[in-house]
Amino acid sequence: MIDDIIQISKEAGELIRNAFGKTHSVEFKTNELNLVTETDTASEKLITDFIKKKYPSHGILAEEGSDVNKSAEYLWVVDPLDGTTNFAHGLPIFSVSIGVQKNGETIAGVVYDVMRDVLYSAEKSCGSFENGKQISVNKNANLGHGMLVTGFPYDIRENPDKAFERFIAFLKHARAIRRLGSAAIDFCYVANGVFDGFWEVSLHPWDICAGKLIVEEAGGLVTDFDGNKIDIYTKRILATNGDIHQKMIEVMKSI
Ligand code: IPD
Ligand code: CA
Ligand code: CA
Repeated sequence: MIDDIIQISKEAGELIRNAFGKTHSVEFKTNELNLVTETDTASEKLITDFIKKKYPSHGILAEEGSDVNKSAEYLWVVDPLDGTTNFAHGLPIFSVSIGVQKNGETIAGVVYDVMRDVLYSAEKSCGSFENGKQISVNKNANLGHGMLVTGFPYDIRENPDKAFERFIAFLKHARAIRRLGSAAIDFCYVANGVFDGFWEVSLHPWDICAGKLIVEEAGGLVTDFDGNKIDIYTKRILATNGDIHQKMIEVMKSI
């Protein structure tokens, strides 16, 4: 199955790459911060048509709404374009993210960083890979030497949920913080050791499913902000190399 996930992620990525830099029909979803373009929908159609044809008994949970049979034994969790705001503004940081669950457990995940043509993949208990080469989280245990990444929810103006305070607290404790604009890529840069930690509130299953497995299979840890085990429906996500996890929880508790 992993080969199929890789193949369809790359095909969707090619569709997105061909559309990048051209004019888009941009629509607002929940508000003017939350965009969808015709490329999000076209990518989702490509991916879900493939799943329906090749795996007709499988369920689909996809961001732009092509859901089918979500209680099936196998569930494909699809973000057809993670980083739509970047894509729409011409910033080349976005991805395709596809995770597959069996009976609620993620067994495979792929994140394709479209413009860098870098593909991250993981299967349960088989490790994580970047373009076929095994990757692992870094071993830094000193938050002060760490580079972190985060993102902000589309409803931050109405529901800031201490996002600003958390950002300031980490600015005081870490070496640097980045905001890339694709949660799936954020996870992968924790998995390959570039970032030491990633936190975000209000993520969705399609932002989390593949990336969480890729971090865990690279030796990292993914929990909520209290250190509890999470599933793909959890909103507050902390993904780290494991060694700075507790320190990051303490910083969050201090605000
Ligand atoms: C968004 C990106 C962004 C994160 C948002 C997500 P989308 O996904 O992953 O980095 O901060 O929370 O919703 O809307 O571009 O698929
Ligand atoms: Ca997303
Ligand atoms: Ca998306």
